[in-house]
Amino acid sequence: MAVIGAGPAGLIVANLLRKAGVDCVVLERHTRAHVEQRARAGLIEPRVVEMLRRFGLADRLLRMADAHTTCEFRIDGRRHEINYSAAHGGRRHYVYPQQELVTDLVAAFLDAGGDLRFQAADVRPHGLDTDRPWVTYVDGATGETTRLDCDFVAGCDGFHGVSRASVPAGALTEHSHEHGIGWLSVLAEAPPSTKAIIYALHPDGFAGHMLRSSTVSRFYLQCPVGDSVDNWPDERVWAELHKRLALRDEDWTLTEGPIIEKRVLDMRSFVVEPMSYGRLYLAGDAAHIITPVGGKGMNLAAHDAERLAEALVAHYEGSDALLHDYSATCLRRVWRSQEFCQWMTEVIHASRDAGSSFRQRLAVARLEHLLTSPAAAAVFAENYLGQD
Ligand code: APR
Repeated sequence: MAVIGAGPAGLIVANLLRKAGVDCVVLERHTRAHVEQRARAGLIEPRVVEMLRRFGLADRLLRMADAHTTCEFRIDGRRHEINYSAAHGGRRHYVYPQQELVTDLVAAFLDAGGDLRFQAADVRPHGLDTDRPWVTYVDGATGETTRLDCDFVAGCDGFHGVSRASVPAGALTEHSHEHGIGWLSVLAEAPPSTKAIIYALHPDGFAGHMLRSSTVSRFYLQCPVGDSVDNWPDERVWAELHKRLALRDEDWTLTEGPIIEKRVLDMRSFVVEPMSYGRLYLAGDAAHIITPVGGKGMNLAAHDAERLAEALVAHYEGSDALLHDYSATCLRRVWRSQEFCQWMTEVIHASRDAGSSFRQRLAVARLEHLLTSPAAAAVFAENYLGQD
């Protein structure tokens, strides 16, 4: 079994296979230090934490991560808290930076004797439509080309990876959507100024205050598509955050800190169907991209990985039913998450939707429904926390 990519998807597949005694080799293009330091997502759904705990992969997470039960919408300078946990049986989110999870998963796999090859260059899958595919790569240390023969290939190498690109043109159907919205994504060495994630709607555009750790916070500022970080010197970032997150009738201060990362993201969504081709199975960002709005990317990757590992283990026990259903099973959750993130994307960007006062009014109606109806809050909570 070959796993391409050591992000959350590949590492969960590899750890679960290892625990079931199925041999696998993980090929990762970058160094161990690189993958263990790459800051990305941070919100983990309760079912993913429970899955990791079941497999003995959540010890440090449960020690270090903060559990969260509420989030806050700021509209016209007023705060509206949603206790989504209370609306969904007391389930809680965990805030744990993706690179910490990756660090734990790398350690667990290596400690269990797993075969993880970093700096694997020019990784290429071959013979995917045969019963005996193989993967070639160039060893980063020796420069030698190596061939791995395997039964299956798990393509867990993210959106720009080689796995999906290796499938013959026309074999997969791609669904993509550009939202026409840009986000400046900022990581700052600033302690959080809030206990709950803040989604602020402001006439100048959305602003978000996300949580990562006691010393680092992530912020988002809506900006034009294709904007450049050069247009966003630190002083402007803080000035916009202060303005868009401001509260009208309450004292609240935003704590500043050194900015350690700034990127412009163009909101887009993408799903490939089916999530497999021959003996290649795609998982995580290799198969779908979701806007960061609802915090779903890492959780979908974990769900795919769990389903794939379980299906592969069942194969070696004599049943291919789960492998046969793998794509359909994953896609049901993927589309449900896409629908939720689309809803949320439309709601939180309404104030800047200059093109349509109609869409603006719809979004306000949706928010009012969410904030005043327990039934609407329960639906939001189920989607936000993730289906069990
Ligand atoms: N060969 C080997 N490894 C590769 C290749 C390649 N050609 N291309 C990419 N990779 C590696 C990347 O270096 C990375 O470590 O595959 C891994 C893919 O990891 P992620 O991009 O983190 O994707 P995934 O595991 O699906 O996790 C999804 O990541 O994008 C975030 O926020 C998103 O939380 C979501 C999560």
